[in-house]
Parts: sequence; structure tokens; C-alpha cells
Amino acid sequence: MKARPFIKWVGGKGGISRKVLEHLPNEIENYYEPFLGGGAIFFNARKRLKNAFLSDVNAQLVQVYKVIQNNIDDLIRILDIHKKSHSKDYYYNIRSMHNLDNPVKMSARFIYLNKTCYNGLYRVNKNNEFNVPMGSYKNPAILDEKNLRACHEVLQNVNIQFGSFEDIEVHKNSVIYCDPPYDETYNQYTVNKFERDIQEKLRDKVLEWSRQGAKVIISNADTDYIRELYKNSVFTIIDIEAPRYISCKTDGRDSTQELLIML
Ligand SMILES: C[S@@+](CC[C@H](N)C(=O)[O-])C[C@H]1O[C@@H](n2cnc3c(N)ncnc32)[C@H](O)[C@@H]1O
Repeated sequence: MKARPFIKWVGGKGGISRKVLEHLPNEIENYYEPFLGGGAIFFNARKRLKNAFLSDVNAQLVQVYKVIQNNIDDLIRILDIHKKSHSKDYYYNIRSMHNLDNPVKMSARFIYLNKTCYNGLYRVNKNNEFNVPMGSYKNPAILDEKNLRACHEVLQNVNIQFGSFEDIEVHKNSVIYCDPPYDETYNQYTVNKFERDIQEKLRDKVLEWSRQGAKVIISNADTDYIRELYKNSVFTIIDIEAPRYISCKTDGRDSTQELLIML
């Protein structure tokens, strides 16, 4: 079975993965995805990748990837309990367990809440506590065992790290796909918002990686600010139309203009 992202993630790239893949080389020695989220491009590109380095600043999310890589049976066992116990009271009880130390229990909680919360949002309060209310689903897919086992296989020998893009040092022959929180849209994946000064740091980091010989592809929103930020002629900018999940609308999907920026 082909592994797919095992969580819903705001800004997930499932809808445009084919368009991004068209611009990735057919064989990649070292692939980096420093804004991992649901990892849609990684899962779609995996057959082209010799070595993969996945990272994100969401510590819990990174832990979930590591547990899928190393403790899949225990994770499935606990998710099965969540699946059988799911109710409104159960959701809020599990949601209140903010300080679970056991990585497998924490990961099962993360996936359970992701599958049952409102719109698959990930939002935390200032104490870094998940605070999204329960969504209304008739039959949420809390445990997709086949896909989790497929993800487990694909994640073997993959390097998974917690950390910010700023700390990434790349190997030679690298391709880096960056999918940061977008300009002028949802940018609160963690306690700290991804403001424009950080968009600027990313642009500078991308130039540094390129000087070190890496090929870089960046997704972002089509805004005047982003076009101005990447106006240097070393960047090639392509417009793409994307079906996009809009978090402020209850009913769903819309089409937006996005940019793929390459160098
Ligand atoms: C648009 S989402 C990525 C979506 C992903 N491509 C997918 O298909 O689901 C952006 C991600 O960047 C992460 N992030 C935010 N600030 C970051 C930083 N400074 N360094 C690394 N990751 C960061 C967020 O935690 C979030 O998972």
C-alpha cells in the first residue's frame, strides 16, 4: 500500500503535490523537508529519495513521526482504544492530558485529537496546550492501521529531527523543499507566529543553502510581499492554482493562487 500523510494538516500539500513533484529531480541523493507538517511531498516523492531529512518545530508532531518509525505496534494498540472509546466526554478528557511523558501515549493522543477535532486544526494556547474543540464527524478515521503500517515502512532509515529551518546544515547534492506557514494566512502552528521577519530569514537561509550547492523549492502565497521578497533574478517564480483549505470557512475548500519559488 502507498503511504499517505497520516494526519490532516492546515496547508497540507496533498492538493498540489503533483505540481511540486514536476519540479523535483527524478533521483535525489539528499532530500530535506524542514517544514514537515503532514509530509505530503515526502510521501509522494519517497521513491526518488536516497536519503531523507525531515524536520519541524512542532515537537509533538516530530515525536509522532518517531513513534511511527519505531513503536508502531504500541501506537496502533492505543489508537484502537481511543477509537473504541470515542465520545464527547472522552475527547475532552484526552485533550486535557497535556503533559503525557510516554511518547507512544502522547502520539496516540496527537493522532486521535487530529482526527476528531474541528477541521483537523492544530492550535495551542500560550502555555503550548492544544485547545481546538471537538469537530462533528459521524465516523472519524481514528485508526487507519494499513496506512500507519505503510508510513512505518517508508520512515525506516529516514532522519527525523525537531528544530527550526534556521539550524539546518545541508549535505552536498541536496534538494530542499520548503513549505513554511504562508504570508497573510494561517501562521500560528506553534506558540510563535511566523511573521514577516521570519519569512525574510527564510529567504536569506535559502540563498545560503543555494551558495552551498543545494537546489531549493519554496511554496508560499501569491502576495505582493512574497513577490517583492523573492524578486532577485536568481529566483524563478511560477504561479500555480491550488485547492486550498481555508481555516476561517466552515464549509471547506477554495482555489487560491500560490507561488513556487525555485533556485
Ligand atoms: C504549511 S505547514 C507544512 C505542511 C506540509 N507541507 C504538509 O504537506 O502537510 C508549515 C509547517 O511549518 C512548521 N514550522 C513553523 N515554523 C517553523 C520553523 N521556524 N522551522 C521549521 N518548521 C516550522 C509548522 O509547525 C508546520 O508544520
